[in-house]
Amino acid sequence: MADLTLDAVEKYYGAYHAIKGVSLKVEPGEFIVMVGPSGCGKSTLLRAIAGLETISSGKMTIGERDMTHEPPWDRGVAMVFQNYALYPHMSVRDNMGFALKVARCPKAEIREAVENAAKTLRITEHLDKKPRALSGGQKQRVAIGRAITRAPDVFLFDEPLSNLDAALRSQMRVELGRLHKQLDATMVYVTHDQTEAMTMASRIVVLNEGKIEQVGTPLELYNHPESLFVAGFLGSPKMNFFDGKIVDVAGKALTVAVPGMPTPITLTLDDDVQAPAFDSTVRLGVRPEAVRVGGDIPASIALVESLGNQTLLYLDAGALNCVEAESSDGFITAQLPSQHRYTLGDTVQISWSPDMLYLFDTSGRRLCTPRLAVAK
Ligand SMILES: Nc1ncnc2c1ncn2[C@@H]1O[C@H](COP(=O)(O)OP(=O)(O)O)[C@@H](O)[C@H]1O
Ligand SMILES: [Mg+2]
Repeated sequence: MADLTLDAVEKYYGAYHAIKGVSLKVEPGEFIVMVGPSGCGKSTLLRAIAGLETISSGKMTIGERDMTHEPPWDRGVAMVFQNYALYPHMSVRDNMGFALKVARCPKAEIREAVENAAKTLRITEHLDKKPRALSGGQKQRVAIGRAITRAPDVFLFDEPLSNLDAALRSQMRVELGRLHKQLDATMVYVTHDQTEAMTMASRIVVLNEGKIEQVGTPLELYNHPESLFVAGFLGSPKMNFFDGKIVDVAGKALTVAVPGMPTPITLTLDDDVQAPAFDSTVRLGVRPEAVRVGGDIPASIALVESLGNQTLLYLDAGALNCVEAESSDGFITAQLPSQHRYTLGDTVQISWSPDMLYLFDTSGRRLCTPRLAVAK
């Protein structure tokens, strides 16, 4: 278990600026999830930490040691890849023990390390099989086992669950959490999947176009996103956004009018930000779980998804249009707890819980966020 620091890390591929001044301190034993859309630089950053990629400038330390120019095998890290990268001609046992063999560890020691890792991952019965005889989930366990046997200071995971089916992914999420506790290890995990970030991270790092947008615990980021990007990226279904204008500023009270909404909405400005000017354009955010049935906004039901434990409604509210909506037609997403019987084309009245609204300025910076309290 070691800490990891990145200090102003930059990476250029020729003229392309892939990583733009990333600084981060990972505490010993943390499970950090770096999340962001495809192409934002997650793999580049992880490979740079592993030493598989040089950096253009900046500094990296692991457990106080400057690793910036150390080769991968001297960094005390082990990486697990999305595509498993197992040697097809070797047994599971030999795959898992390979790095130790290369490091000239005594045979008995290798055997013990491999068997302990196999027990932890519940793959003992597969140790003498070849990778091709295993399912995707089992192969991924072998890849994780290969990392465990090396007893690294820091584990690095690059989208290790992306090739697995949904049921196996959620099972592996739980298992990786268990493994993290059991090994008491420092882990850095990258993914494009916000669910993996929300469920596994002790802290999430949101990356966007090679830059860190925000760092915090899952609920800090969910409740208090610093930017429109973070607000839209975390949460599924995605937050609904509406463009509006500031029609009144009275101290900390901002009143926003949104075309198609029958009445303006008043929100409280966050303490640490400047009030926007009268008449400036703003973007209102409403999470699907904050949309209620009952109220003063008429909407017709365009689609119903009955999930059993919840019901998702996609609502056409006429002139009240969602921007950046998941469906390109500007429908509003409502997430209702439990089961409801609705028919396509039905008209319902909707409204929002006023204490669950978000507001951003035109540059996407936070103006208002709810003070959601987490229940004990
Ligand atoms: N070897 C490379 N040469 C040039 N550009 C690269 C190279 N590797 C990655 N990139 C570019 O850097 C950006 C970030 O890539 P990557 O780190 O793989 O993103 P992510 O893992 O977040 O999907 C992308 O635009 C990608 O095309
Ligand atoms: Mg990647």
